[in-house]
Amino acid sequence: MTITLSGTAKTFGDFTAVHPLDLTIPEGSFFALLGASGCGKTTTLRMIAGLEEPTSGSILLGDDDITHLPPHKRPVNTVFQNYALFPHLDVTENIAFGLRRRGVKSVKKQVEEMLDLVQLGDMARRKPRQLSGGQQQRVALARALINRPQVLLLDEPLGALDLKLRRQMQLELKRIQTEVGITFVHVTHDQEEAMTMADSVAVMYGGRVVQLGEPAELYENPRSTFVANFLGTSNLIEAEVDSEGTDEPDELRVHVVGDDATLRLPRARCAAEGVDAGTKVLVGVRPEKISLTRTDGADSASQGGSADGRAGVPEGRNRLTGRITDASYLGVSWQYLVETPACSELTVYEQNVSRDDRLTPGAQVVVHWRPEHTFALDATQDAAAGEEAV
Ligand SMILES: Nc1ncnc2c1ncn2[C@@H]1O[C@H](COP(=O)(O)OP(=O)(O)OP(=O)(O)O)[C@@H](O)[C@H]1O
Ligand SMILES: [Mg+2]
Repeated sequence: MTITLSGTAKTFGDFTAVHPLDLTIPEGSFFALLGASGCGKTTTLRMIAGLEEPTSGSILLGDDDITHLPPHKRPVNTVFQNYALFPHLDVTENIAFGLRRRGVKSVKKQVEEMLDLVQLGDMARRKPRQLSGGQQQRVALARALINRPQVLLLDEPLGALDLKLRRQMQLELKRIQTEVGITFVHVTHDQEEAMTMADSVAVMYGGRVVQLGEPAELYENPRSTFVANFLGTSNLIEAEVDSEGTDEPDELRVHVVGDDATLRLPRARCAAEGVDAGTKVLVGVRPEKISLTRTDGADSASQGGSADGRAGVPEGRNRLTGRITDASYLGVSWQYLVETPACSELTVYEQNVSRDDRLTPGAQVVVHWRPEHTFALDATQDAAAGEEAV
């Protein structure tokens, strides 16, 4: 069922945990609330569950106003981080708990269905302490789903698992959601987790949703420095809108502050409002979109270029000259830091495909990328917002 929050807010004393929130969570979607610790994710979830009463605003489930309905009357179940399984009951009885409480006598068939769904058929008679963290998590999920809720709320359900198991369970959760087809609202502070699983992600910051969209939309088109830095890494470069080309309908040209360079980007990818010649913006580009071409050695010679920085760089790309200051091996890729006149640390990821000609600190390079891969943000924000916020 579609969940609609309208002006839903929560204050504790004089502290506002959630500012009036307007949010529509479509029926059958896997929806993630993503944000750093303390931004109001759990409070929002608890309001949907009925465990916290909104200070103002309303919550609808489909067309029904459930704002003042007690938790047990809502067709909503919650799975918490610590699972809260009953230690003295085996897997079957843990899963059957909700049915038994409602006086359902024959639970066997439904429990079996759930055991199949979470793939724990051969562990039906084990106690929770005889299960791994991931298996306990599945029991908690089955225990919630057997009540056939219309909405399942998950508050950091994978938080206690180690990284590898987490990744595995993310795919598993997604499979289960697709199979049962009900609305999942998933709270996490892990951006990769939100992006892997969710159809839509609401990024929260300081009790507000700052951006909402599909994972790729958020990643490719961040509208604020917080989202640009919190979801992955962004290079943000100070620039001013160039007087030339301001009448171009589709393209924006900017001049990099402190460097003799002009960059181009699609006008639609500029989140700053009212851009005129001279308006300051932060130009952004993701590290994996950038290519490096060496200008002081092998590359330029072999490609027949000169050492002036034009070597081997296709026409029409945005380009800056710089010097490698750090190279780290990440297995799947290399991460380079590049110092340019305007920016002391541009981050570049290069896929680890060829093992020759590694760039080493000190190498002179041109960093270049396609104008379409460039975005721009309002420069009045803190350029480092969201960098450390995990
Ligand atoms: N019962 C309460 N009384 C007072 N303040 C509260 C209460 N519950 C939450 N808060 C505050 O509201 C803010 C939001 O809390 P919330 O639990 O929603 O954060 P969160 O996004 O879930 O964080 P985390 O990732 O750490 O779980 C926090 O600053 C928290 O201290
Ligand atoms: Mg929380």
